Amino acid sequence: EKGGWDSFMDKEIHEDPAAVQRTLLGRLNKDGDLNLDEVHIDEHDFKAVDKIIVIACGTASYAGMVAKYAIEHWVRIPVEVELAHEFRYRDPILTPRTLVVAISQSGETMDTLMALRHAREQGSKVLAICNTQGASIPRESDAVLYTHAGPEVAVASTKAFVAQITAAYLLGLYLAQVKGAMFRDEIHQVLDSLKQMPAKIQWVIDTQTATIAEAAKRMVDAKSFLFLGRHVGYPVALEGALKLKEIAYTFTEGFAAGELKHGPIALVDEGEPVVFIVPPERGRNVLHAKVISGIEEVKARGAFIIAVAEEGDPDVERYADVVFWRPKAPTLMSPLVDVVPLQLFAMDMANLKGYDVDKPRNLAKSVTVE
Ligand code: M6R
Repeated sequence: EKGGWDSFMDKEIHEDPAAVQRTLLGRLNKDGDLNLDEVHIDEHDFKAVDKIIVIACGTASYAGMVAKYAIEHWVRIPVEVELAHEFRYRDPILTPRTLVVAISQSGETMDTLMALRHAREQGSKVLAICNTQGASIPRESDAVLYTHAGPEVAVASTKAFVAQITAAYLLGLYLAQVKGAMFRDEIHQVLDSLKQMPAKIQWVIDTQTATIAEAAKRMVDAKSFLFLGRHVGYPVALEGALKLKEIAYTFTEGFAAGELKHGPIALVDEGEPVVFIVPPERGRNVLHAKVISGIEEVKARGAFIIAVAEEGDPDVERYADVVFWRPKAPTLMSPLVDVVPLQLFAMDMANLKGYDVDKPRNLAKSVTVE
């Protein structure tokens, strides 16, 4: 039930912190090491994994894209992310050492299910990251890592996304642990930052909601939005764009900020709203300066800048028309907070337009046909 909330989506966004927290719960032993025995793939097989292919659709695929940046960095093995419906109809190169990771909230998405069968037929092991106990995708997989976001009712996926990133991170860190790809201390450090994320998400909800509602009021008549990010901010931009189009029926496009001058900047005109995901770690992360220069370029062409950025970022303060602040967080953790204002923004926009945020037109919660 909705409890006191206006919609399931509202309730579920407010459950983002708990979704991350519950997904971490019970997966660390008392020494602080990861324990994923529940996954039932033996260490020997995990050690042998030399490539990961993530298959998923929609929001789940964006969680996979976020995980790609982290897992390649931590484990030093290639991670490909592919839309399940594309993977299914090509001739992918799979070996017994390839781990296919199927990410699905519902566990019933037909495209993802068919893709996982396609992978297993060719001898690869499939691990499901799923939010629904006993659904078809986990049932047909070799192993499952459940996200514990709790049931997600609204068609637009919210808390499942942050839980999927969390679970995929645990998988990556576990692989790093069994393969010896990282020092134990480093793994512990990352896990510590992960444990701090629920409180940081809560900070965003507590302090940014009013600014976001205000921005939605200002932007409600906008015809289109561009969403840009780089590195892990890129899938966050795609997810922000998807949320807004699916429930507010606003035309949106999300793309990698580095692509701007390769085409999309032609779309920027006076007053065009452009949402930038600004990387954290200003001064240490080269991409921060790159994104800021992207902001300058579109600003010079009259764009209306909405930025998601780290608290007090002076460059952002200089250029942005509206800012949704995030507390300090390491780059790889930032998607867990950055997506939250975009979820709230999409919901506010849809509410202002009088749409049913939980049941957008033409969409089903789980897509059980190909
Ligand atoms: O249940 P799944 O995670 O497999 O669903 C995948 C997509 O259909 C889903 O994420 C869809 O894109 C949502 N409507 C996004 O909000």
